[in-house]
Amino acid sequence: MNDFTYYSPTEFVFGRDAETKIGSYAAAHGYKRALVVYGGGSAVRSGLLGRVESSLEAAATSCVELGGVRPNPEVERVRDGIRIAREERIDLVVAVGGGSVIDCAKAVAFGALYDGDVWDFFCGKARVQRALPIFCVLTIPAAGSEASSSCVISNDALRAKRGTNGDVFRPQVSFMNPELTFTLPSYQTAAGITDMVAHICERWFSGVGAVPVTDHIAASLIRTLMDAAARVLSDPCDYDARADIMWAGMLAHNDIAGCGRGLKPEGRAGGWESHALEHELSALDASIVHGAGLAVMMPAWMRYVWRVDPSRFLQFALEVLDIEPIDDGEEAVEDAVCAAIDELQAFFVDMGMPKTLGELGIELGDVDALVESLRASKGDVFGAFMPLRASDARAIYLSAFSDPALVRACYDDEA
Ligand code: NZQ
Ligand code: ZN
Repeated sequence: MNDFTYYSPTEFVFGRDAETKIGSYAAAHGYKRALVVYGGGSAVRSGLLGRVESSLEAAATSCVELGGVRPNPEVERVRDGIRIAREERIDLVVAVGGGSVIDCAKAVAFGALYDGDVWDFFCGKARVQRALPIFCVLTIPAAGSEASSSCVISNDALRAKRGTNGDVFRPQVSFMNPELTFTLPSYQTAAGITDMVAHICERWFSGVGAVPVTDHIAASLIRTLMDAAARVLSDPCDYDARADIMWAGMLAHNDIAGCGRGLKPEGRAGGWESHALEHELSALDASIVHGAGLAVMMPAWMRYVWRVDPSRFLQFALEVLDIEPIDDGEEAVEDAVCAAIDELQAFFVDMGMPKTLGELGIELGDVDALVESLRASKGDVFGAFMPLRASDARAIYLSAFSDPALVRACYDDEA
């Protein structure tokens, strides 16, 4: 087990009606003026926004709103929020939504206390040192932003999507009511579950060997998600299945599934290769849902890299999917690893996720731009399980298209 630091300061209020307790928490902390951030309207239509604001106002915390945050949130909306936060002398940022709303709220929370432009934090010009406190009312379990140290923002003008990390903007309190997720469309439910599995896998394949205590937590989270996914997709109002998914989504990304698996003691375990590959897709086309992009890119990445450490993939096959090689010969190992990757991808596809880049509207002609943008974001070499160069990223993208003959032709061109 490698050295690590684990810091997860968020307080969780979990269960039915959790959101109605937000006012008493704001009052207990002495907050007086909240900026309430929300998305494209689901929280308005369900009446949730009203309930949250009523609870805050009843406890003498007045509210100002920043609505219309889109999925894959854009930096201009963040700048709007920063302006409002300063003008209104906000002392609490409340996110009512999913990863996009929470990340916008986080960026407002640290951007409001910074003299320069908030994009500085996403292009490496500045590091976040302080932030306004953040409360979350989670409406879609997926990104894990309700407890994570990450914030991911898109910049349409630069056609870029970048993340920044910092413990100071981990939410202070997250209110998690599984009933709020009953209204999620099945595609969003499935994309959310895919994202959680990806958060666990990025840490599992971190370039570090077995760490049993962490590995067992990780495997059990994925197994729980697979079981709950089937239940919730047949009955969207299955409270216990929704609750399992909501809590597992938090555990998938608050770093507990990575303890001892990092190459450095500080920071997050894993090279986050599939995420880097996906973020370029949703930067290119903001209508691409993060989890759907991962459903395509993660299996493609796995098929490209598994030979670097087959034993780690065999452990995944066994602990997560009960797949074992019939003997320890090379062919049997390859069969078992490939069967595991196929089964994981089949799980995503059975939930309604895409299998190929073509299904996401990406074309072969987009690959150069994806690879170039990835290089601008991650440098010439990135990754922990296997160092990836531009040529590797290109090969992975190409392999994620549907026509294997075309892919083979491109390999031949490159040779
Ligand atoms: O905007 P509204 O109308 O609210 O609709 C949303 C949105 O269209 C809808 N929705 C949310 N709750 C709902 C609901 N619809 C019906 N009923 C409800 N209860 O769902 C759609 C997607 O919402 P979004 O917040 O975009 O989803 P998600 O939580 O998957 O967040 C995705 C974003 O998070 C980033 C992604 O890259 C992407 O930008 N990530 C953030 C991370 C972090 N901060 O730790 C880590 C992740 O790896 C990820 O990169
Ligand atoms: Zn993710």
